[in-house]
Amino acid sequence: MPSTAARLRLGVNIDHVATLRNARGSAYPDPLRAALLAEAAGADGITAHLREDRRHIRDADIAALMAGLTRPLNFEMAAVPEMQDIALAHRPHAVCLVPERREERTTEGGLDVAGDEARLTAFIAPLRAAGIRVSLFIGHAPAQIAAAARTGAAVVELHTGAYCDLHAEGRLAERDAELAALRQGAALAHGQGLEVHAGHGLSFETVGPVAAIPQLRELNIGHFLIGEAVFIGLGPAIAEMRRLMDAARA
Ligand code: PXP
Repeated sequence: MPSTAARLRLGVNIDHVATLRNARGSAYPDPLRAALLAEAAGADGITAHLREDRRHIRDADIAALMAGLTRPLNFEMAAVPEMQDIALAHRPHAVCLVPERREERTTEGGLDVAGDEARLTAFIAPLRAAGIRVSLFIGHAPAQIAAAARTGAAVVELHTGAYCDLHAEGRLAERDAELAALRQGAALAHGQGLEVHAGHGLSFETVGPVAAIPQLRELNIGHFLIGEAVFIGLGPAIAEMRRLMDAARA
């Protein structure tokens, strides 16, 4: 079983550098350049999501990231054959399976692993055989965690979007209940031998209580960091996020 004392890694999601690039149909800003800057600023890995609609990251970005990165690539994708082929061709360090269609979602916003367990187990097998670590992006419901543990995935990433939304809306009692459920989910997943990650919507304001959950090994953060980069620069934004994570963990 993984230790709970390990350092919390920061994965920086650079999708929205591509969103900005695509807004003007230009060649810049370049997601690989942002990823290299993120690595220099202390990112432990880079996350990029090749969506089926290619709304931000494109196929050529994945190839450029695989060729240029010095830290591991966490390749987010839908559990569909086209993406499986791309993952098997590139063999990134990790694949995180995420829902892209409404019918793939649970009420918590993550993948419905419990409702799609047999298909996901079969989908994961060739990725594992190729040496790729597979992560499932799920809510904290115990049934989803138990199903994830049975699929052969090594990792679950717990969805922090509801916690962040409740914080933003000032619904603090509900936010705290959601945080407690995330804590319980992390402990449950860890107890079932899964490595536990978390992410979605995290900011300087919301990261601390999540980073303090002892079973977590990695946070994946994108949108806030890319937004904050407009004001203070990407390197300083990542450094400040790292500082807040370390402070929460201390
Ligand atoms: N983790 C997963 C699985 C995601 O899909 C995303 C969003 O692409 C993130 C983390 C990062 O979320 P955000 O961009 O809101 O920080």
